[in-house]
Amino acid sequence: MIDWHSHILPAVDDGSRDIEESLGLLHILQTSGVDTVIATPHFYADRISAEDFFAARDQSAAALRRAMPADAPRLLLGAEVRYYAGISRLENLKDFRIEGSRQLLLEMPVSHWSEYALRELVELAGIPGVELLLAHVERYRALQSDDAWDRLLQAGIRMQSNASNFLSWRTRGAALRQLWAGEIHCIGSDCHNLKYRPPKIGEAYEWIAKKSDARFLPAFDAFGHKLLGH
Ligand SMILES: [Fe+2]
Repeated sequence: MIDWHSHILPAVDDGSRDIEESLGLLHILQTSGVDTVIATPHFYADRISAEDFFAARDQSAAALRRAMPADAPRLLLGAEVRYYAGISRLENLKDFRIEGSRQLLLEMPVSHWSEYALRELVELAGIPGVELLLAHVERYRALQSDDAWDRLLQAGIRMQSNASNFLSWRTRGAALRQLWAGEIHCIGSDCHNLKYRPPKIGEAYEWIAKKSDARFLPAFDAFGHKLLGH
């Protein structure tokens, strides 16, 4: 299992405070059956330069890797890049992709998206070597028209859902239907800390497994690994 969205790196954003907390989060993920954790610290282009972001992220990851047990899940580096108008012109956009892959995790505003934004998403998805993944789509799916969403899906844009979307009785029915329909492509814990936002991806997968055909999750997982290029 892959955790596509996490704030597991120590002291780099509003996620894990220190290495100890990161190891605790990693342990929960491991016992949930996660074999690959993608670290996606927030990147806000108006607050930090790309250079400083990568320096801080890579230093934090190196410290965590040194402390990780040998049998820990594999840690891959990425970013949760916040969208802004004009992001498609960001010079080093490709550097924000998940390590070893073409996947770029983009966080959109929780609002109705303008025609400009929709076009820019399609444009981003058309950049050679970039495959776009929208973060926690359950936060904004209902704010867009079905037509707009279809345009994004048809442009090859993939959708990441948080595990919590599969745990609340209010949302999990729709989440499951979207998952089965191929409109949710990846699931992430979006874990931030041990106390208030611990990883619950194991519970989400258990519920999905209970409701789905036995072949569904292995195929979903294999698809995820294919997106990562291994
Ligand atoms: Fe996040």
